[in-house]
Order: sequence, then structure tokens, then C-alpha cells
Amino acid sequence: MVGFTDLLAGACLLPAVYGASSSVASSTSSAPYHQFTIPASVNYGENLIANIDDPQAVNAQDVCPGYKASGVQQSAKGMTAKLQLAGEACNAYGTDVDSLDLIVEYLAKDRLNVQITPTHVDRHNASWYQLSEAVVPRPKADKGATAENSDFEITWSNDPSFSFKVTRKATGDVLFDTTGTKLVFENQFIEFVTALPQDYNLYGLGEHIQQLRLLENQVMTIYASDIGDPIDGNIYGSHPFYLDTRYYEVDAEGTHTLVSSSAADQSKDYVSYSHGVFQRNAHGQEILTGTDKLTWRAIGGSIDLTFYSGPTQPEVTSSYQISTVGLPAMQQYYTLGFHQCRWGYQNWSVVEDVVENFEKFQIPLENIWLDIDYMHGYRDFENDAMRFSYSEGEKFLDKLHASGRHFIPIVDSAIYIPNPKNASDAYDTYTRGAKDGVFLKNPDGSTYIGAVWPGYTVFPDWHNPKSVSWWSNELDIWHKKIAYDGIWIDMSEVSSFCVGSCGTGNLTLNPAHPPFSLPGEPGNIIYDYPEGFAVTNSTEAAAASAAASSQAAAAGDGSSGASSTVSYLRTTPTPGVRNINYPPYTINHDQTGHDLAVHAVSPNATHIDGVAEYDVHNLWGHQILNATYHGLLKVSPSKRPFIIGRSTFAGSGKWAGHWGGDNYSRWAYMYFSIPQALSFSLFGVPMFGTDACGFNGNTDEELCNRWMQMSAFFPFYRNHNVLSAIPQEPYRWASVIEASKSAMAIRYAILPYFYTLFHLAHTTGSTVMRALAWEFPNDPSLANVNTQFLVGPSIMVVPVLEPLVDYTKGVFPGIKQGEVWYDWYTQTAVDAQPGVNTTIPAPLGHIPVFVRGGSILPMQEPALTTREARNTPWSLLTSLSSQGTATGKLYLDDGESLYPNATLSVQFQASKNKLTAMARGNWKEANPLSEVTVLGVTEGPHNVTFNGQTVPGSDVNYNATSHVLSVCGLQAMTADGAFSKHWTLMW
Ligand code: GLC
Repeated sequence: MVGFTDLLAGACLLPAVYGASSSVASSTSSAPYHQFTIPASVNYGENLIANIDDPQAVNAQDVCPGYKASGVQQSAKGMTAKLQLAGEACNAYGTDVDSLDLIVEYLAKDRLNVQITPTHVDRHNASWYQLSEAVVPRPKADKGATAENSDFEITWSNDPSFSFKVTRKATGDVLFDTTGTKLVFENQFIEFVTALPQDYNLYGLGEHIQQLRLLENQVMTIYASDIGDPIDGNIYGSHPFYLDTRYYEVDAEGTHTLVSSSAADQSKDYVSYSHGVFQRNAHGQEILTGTDKLTWRAIGGSIDLTFYSGPTQPEVTSSYQISTVGLPAMQQYYTLGFHQCRWGYQNWSVVEDVVENFEKFQIPLENIWLDIDYMHGYRDFENDAMRFSYSEGEKFLDKLHASGRHFIPIVDSAIYIPNPKNASDAYDTYTRGAKDGVFLKNPDGSTYIGAVWPGYTVFPDWHNPKSVSWWSNELDIWHKKIAYDGIWIDMSEVSSFCVGSCGTGNLTLNPAHPPFSLPGEPGNIIYDYPEGFAVTNSTEAAAASAAASSQAAAAGDGSSGASSTVSYLRTTPTPGVRNINYPPYTINHDQTGHDLAVHAVSPNATHIDGVAEYDVHNLWGHQILNATYHGLLKVSPSKRPFIIGRSTFAGSGKWAGHWGGDNYSRWAYMYFSIPQALSFSLFGVPMFGTDACGFNGNTDEELCNRWMQMSAFFPFYRNHNVLSAIPQEPYRWASVIEASKSAMAIRYAILPYFYTLFHLAHTTGSTVMRALAWEFPNDPSLANVNTQFLVGPSIMVVPVLEPLVDYTKGVFPGIKQGEVWYDWYTQTAVDAQPGVNTTIPAPLGHIPVFVRGGSILPMQEPALTTREARNTPWSLLTSLSSQGTATGKLYLDDGESLYPNATLSVQFQASKNKLTAMARGNWKEANPLSEVTVLGVTEGPHNVTFNGQTVPGSDVNYNATSHVLSVCGLQAMTADGAFSKHWTLMW
């Protein structure tokens, strides 16, 4: 199989020669732990039955009266009205609110907002939390926006009760319609229902592990949960936003008819219209996707819906970010390099070995990460003095930094609270925080004490105005001891391993082990392997399976078989009283018993302003990212903070990126990485990646080979592994070394393209990783394609997502309209038919990558670090469209400054055998241009000139079979920098 480097060897550039491969002995470890263990029972909550599973549950639509609108005031900007309960209160899952205020506001041509809030906010009785605008801003309004110039029209009715309809004026299509359903607004339960067309295409509503297009008849729970990536369950983040795409067949008369994407016929013409809907609500939520409707429930807050008219996905996503949640943080250049992590690097010398192995095998490594192993007793901001001493760390980091690499440690969300009886146990981070009162409280004012890795812990209260400066200060103090480059925020849902304030009165027990066994400890040995392992490694697989069975038998799993009658706690609402511990509506939260207090800080933990955690649970992880962003600015005021966080909320992208959490070393999870990434593109968090090779369970050579290759095309590229699983750094298997190197060679060559995409995302709200449907909006057959993806507009990746095969299948979008796709490796146009799932050869170690005709990719040479790569000559890969044209962009700056004082933007354009580069800006790019490759050149060139000067024939290579023209030897003509002046290449 031809790799990128081989390809370069055949052209004008010198290939990067990487070292030969050999396997390295594994290093396993277990984290230190002490004797006392908090019993597992502390994490047992109540056994609740999820409302959606409860045969006794009432349907609010059947029993509630709805509302009637009165006092309607229409204006050019929108309308206001009072909504009064239309009958006797149903109090289905709380206390009905008698009177509501409706405010409809045309915010901009493409944005409409509908807000429904209680008229009287009674904080003492039926209190509900009104989401803070400081934490989650309301969407911005354009001056001069009116109903008349809006893309939307909103109409309402009181028949039989209040309902509203949002219509797209251009098509007359009803986008949102609550007609015939009841609005339910209670202090702990809100419900509205909107009609949807048959076979709808909805995307978003995270965070879940699921296919890209939302399935029908699904319950999507939103509640931040520390749980290892269950399929369809609620996991770490909360993104109450969806994209709705509708396809229309256009006939000869231009009539538009709504069609189902499953009926797509390549011989017909279609167009699509997309719109977005954001519900600005931070409470626990549940969205039920019916066959022709969507039911949206929340256990508090208000209705604050913003509609984005698009009509394309890029327009919806950009508007959502620009007007509402904020544009994503610009990344430092180095963050696009490869990241290696694992839970279980026991000391500095183990970490040094890892780095050395990357060097030995000549595999690019940019960032080395440390998990909780480095901590002293799992305390944030304290290194273990023996294993990770600061002095040794300083030497290690000096060397690491000198080599152009970076260091990213984990910082957990909970803060250890010391044993008050043991003076030598003092912990300054806690002491300083306690002095400022920055920790969450119990309702009685005492400190809320949960349990996480270090034992008993407290939790920062982000409502306390001093908490951000305390957190920033801790980051700063620690940075002076260990010069980290970015921060990994974990456990931020916010996780706690016991129900309630379990540490209250127990601090002297000083436990230092969580109430469950860690991976690798007796009874919890990891025997899981990926799906194909039993075929490729049958003997080992059989042994592992036998050992797993004995382990399960010893634990008594499945031995009883007897089922006892399960009893559930059901809460009935008490008028006027909120039950925040066991709200009357039980969301299908995926922790044991659906209890909100399991594996998290309990809903009754109290913030300094009296707000209960119940009302803001989904924001905790968002706010620690804000605090960390400020902290990193305190550490390095002029540098873009690099943060990867676990729990996110709408808008977290402006501070941080996200990784997919605790996935499994399974092929299924490799696949789910794609829809998860694409969903985060929609959520405005472009810096996304999943743990390559898989986190939980053991990986194997084949899976790791494929996954290391696929992740090379994700914005955030990290390999991470759970404690005690077999090691999975890319140098562990000869085939994975080669596979990683060849995929990384492509990634590092196109770093300038990735960086430019990030800059565009940061400035315009565009996406980095893209679904095919977004780039080709008029092809309904792409509506649920999520086994292949695009990086920006120009690169398409079709990974192998199953074991034991040497091919994959993919579609080549746009072919019918004349789109050309070039195979990255052969540089020739792909021969594919419209809409055909084409078989693509892909032996192990080869990842199919295609370049879209019409694009110009600025590239540098692959190298072992991004710093080195940035010091190499430039080349351009120009892939001509069927019209012989191409365009491209490049953005450059120093790669790290928050507000760079020098930037460079280059526009590339090719047509009629002519390629021009027009540069603007004052960033001085010193590296010359060495080569231009043009794909799809149908006729051999007569005379190739660069700025009028003839390029010698020896530097011109034209292949009449592959139609590839390569022009090299351009260094001398661009000695003062590839883009220091405009240039034109003609052939
Ligand atoms: C959580 C994180 C995981 C990390 C582990 C130990 O499970 O999601 O990435 O390795 O904690 O810190």
C-alpha cells in the first residue's frame, strides 16, 4: 500500500524516513491505594422508575388544561401576551403555574425567539430557577429586525388552547407547530409538543452515543452523567439544540414537494432547507422523538426557544454560535499534533520511556498527558513527591519543551478535604478555598462533602464570585512548580462517588480509595477484547474468556437467577412544594435507580446565592471550563488556553474542546466516534476527538491500527487507555507503527489546512469535521451517512469500521453534479457512480482518503512535531474540478497568541491553467514554496512559468495517464517566503 511518504518519494519532495518497528515490553501499573474503603453502599440511591417506563404514569397531555392567551400585543418586533391556565390545575408533575408571560421576538432576519416564563417569580414557594444570563447568555437581537423582514412567520391560536406555529415564509413550510397539544408549565415540569413531518431528519440533542440522525421513538435524556458511554444514555454534556433538515423534490415547473430521504432517487432533483432550534434550559430534560412529533420535557426552568432559519446547515450552525452560544476558542497550532495519554503511567521515568519510544520509532508525538497517577493522594495541584517529584519533572519538561513537545495533566473537579485531626494532612488548595468559602454547601449551611478519587471531597461553587480567582490562583501556583501547557478537566458532571454529603462527620476516617475496585484490582481484572479478537487471537481470546467467567462467578454474577418483586419510589407532587431530591417526573437518567443523586453531587447541594444544584447541575462542567480558561490566562496572559473538558454545555466551545469520554475498545465505539464528533460540530465544539484504540477494555492490534488511522483526521487526536488494560501506544505493534505513521504523515502535511479550518470556525462559526449531508445539501440519500466524514470541505475519509475485512464502502457525493474525487494516494480521479455505495480496497494499514476536486490544500512536510513541520517548505495540492478550477485558503499567525499582532491570509485560485496566490497580512512566513501538484490536468503543459519565469523542464513532471502535473524546484523563486508576494503559476 502506498503511504503518503512513499508518495512524496515519487514526487519532488524528500520523503521523511521513519525508523523500523519492533515491539516494546509493556508497562502495567496500578494506582496506589490505602486501606480504608468507603463502602459501595454509599453510592446506592433510591430505586425510582423512569416516567417513560412507568405504566402508572399520567400523560400530561391527557390531564392538563393548557393555557389561553389574552392581552395580545402585536408589534413590528414581535408580540407579547399573558397565558392563563385554561382550566383546573392538573399538577401532573409539580404545581401548575397560573399565569405566564409570552414574549415573541424577531431577533434578526434568520432568528426568532419565543419565551414563556412565569409572570410571578415566587422564590419561596413554587420557586423555579431563571437561568442566569451571565452564565448562559440569551441570543442577541439585531437592531431593526422586524416581523416583516424575518424569514419566519409566527401565528398563534387559542383553539382549543394556546398553541403556536412557526412557518418558513420562503416555502410556507411549518417548522414548529404545537397545534392540538397542550402547553404544560409547572414548577418542576414543562412540556410542549411540536409536529414533525414523516421520516424527519433531526440531529443534535446531546450528549449521546448514537447515530448521527436521531432515531424515531427514542427518549433522549439530557442530564450530565459520569458514566462510561452507554449507547443512547445521557452522558457528560448538555446540548438542547437540534438541526432539522427537510428535503424537497423539485419538478420541471419548480414545484417543491417534501420527500422522505429514504425515497431518494438519483435521477431526480432535490433541494433542502435546514433550520435549528435551541431551548435555553439547563435543567434535566427529556426529548421524545415520536413518528410525527417531538415532545420536549424539562424538570424546571422556562421555555426560551430560538429558531435559526438557515436555510443551510452552515448558516444555522454559524448563526447559533455567533448570536447565541459564542464562537469556538482558537486553538494553538501545537494542539493539532498527536496526544498520547494513559491512566497508569506510574512515574516520570515511565513517561520518559514513552516519549523515547515515540522518538525511537519515529512516530510523531506532540503532547504527553498525565492522568491522576501523578497526584499526591489524588489531590489536584499536588504532585506525588516520590513518583512525580517537581525537581525531576522540571528536568523532564525542560527536555520535552526543548524538543518542541508539550505536557497536559489532568485536573479533577473535586477538591480533597483533609482529615481535621491530622495536622500533617493539611492541603493548601482546600485551606485557601475554605477561607474564601468557595465550596458547595448543604441546605443547612454546612459544607457539602462527597467522595471522589482522593476520598472525601468538596466541590467548587461557581456561583461564588471568589471561586474563579481562587481556582485561577491554584492553577498559577501549581504552574510555577510544573510548567504544564494545557489542562484536561475531568469528573465535571460533577461526579461524586456517594449519595449526599457522605463525608459529613466522617472526615477522620480519611478514606483513600473509591467505593469500587479500580480496573486491575482483584475482581476487576480486564479480560475484554474487541469483537474480532477471538478470530485473530483465538487462544488468547479463549483464555481471557475463561478467566472472565471465573471472575464473574467469583463475584456471584448471575448465580441467583431468582427475581424478586421490585419496589419503586414514586413521588407525588405536593402543591407549592418543590421536591428537588426526587422530582415528581423521573427522567430516564442512566445512573442506578435513575436517582439524580447517584454518582453526582446531590440536587440539594446549595450554592452561595441559595440556588440548588438541582437547577444548575448541567452547568457545573461548563463553569469549570470558564474558570480554567481564566486560570490559564493568569498563567500565560497572551496565550490561547488549551483545555479539554468532559462535561460541556451549549457554549463550552468558546473555552474548551471535548473528548468523547470513557468509550470502549470496541469497533462499535470506533464507529460512534464519528456521529459524536459531528454532533459536537453542530454544538460549536469543533475541538473534538475520542480515545483512539478505545479506553475501557483491552484493545487489539487490528482495532488500534484502524482507529489510530481514523483519529488522525479528527480535530483532537489522542490515544488514551484505562488503568491496567494492555498498553496501546501506537509503537506496541509493528503494523500500528506503520499505520499511524502513514496516517500522521497526511495529518501533519495538511496541518495548515486544519489550522485554517479552526481559524474559520473561530471567526465565522463554520465546522471542522463535517457530515456529507452538510456539504452536499441537495442529496437526501446522505441524510444519515455517518460512516464516512469530511474534514472541512475538501478531504473525505472513509474508514474501515469493522474487523477482519480488507475493504470498506463509501459514497462519493456530488458525482451527479460533476463533482470529482481524487484518491489521496494515487492522485487520480475516482470512478464512481452517483449514490452507489462503492467498495474501496482498504487492507490493514490503509485508510481511504479522498480530495475533492476544486480544492487547493496548502501543505508542509510531515515531521515529528508541529514545530518542525512549520519549518519546512510549502507545497500546494491543487485538485481541479471538472471545470478545471480550484480554490483554497490559508491562515497563519504565530500559532499561540490570543490576539496575534501579525497574521497572514492567502487566497488560492486556479482556472484556465493558471494558479494564483494572493497574500494579505503582516505575518512573515519564511519558508519557501517547493512544489505545486495539480491533479486532473488533462493536457500536458507546453511551458510552465512561475511569475512569468519559465520553470526548467527538469522540474516539471506530467503524467498523461494519471493526469498529475507536478512542478518543483520553486524554492529559489520563493526564497523570501512562499507567500511574501503574489504569484502566478501557469501551465
Ligand atoms: C475518568 C476519565 C478517564 C480517566 C479516569 C481516571 O474515567 O473519563 O479519562 O482516565 O477518570 O482519571
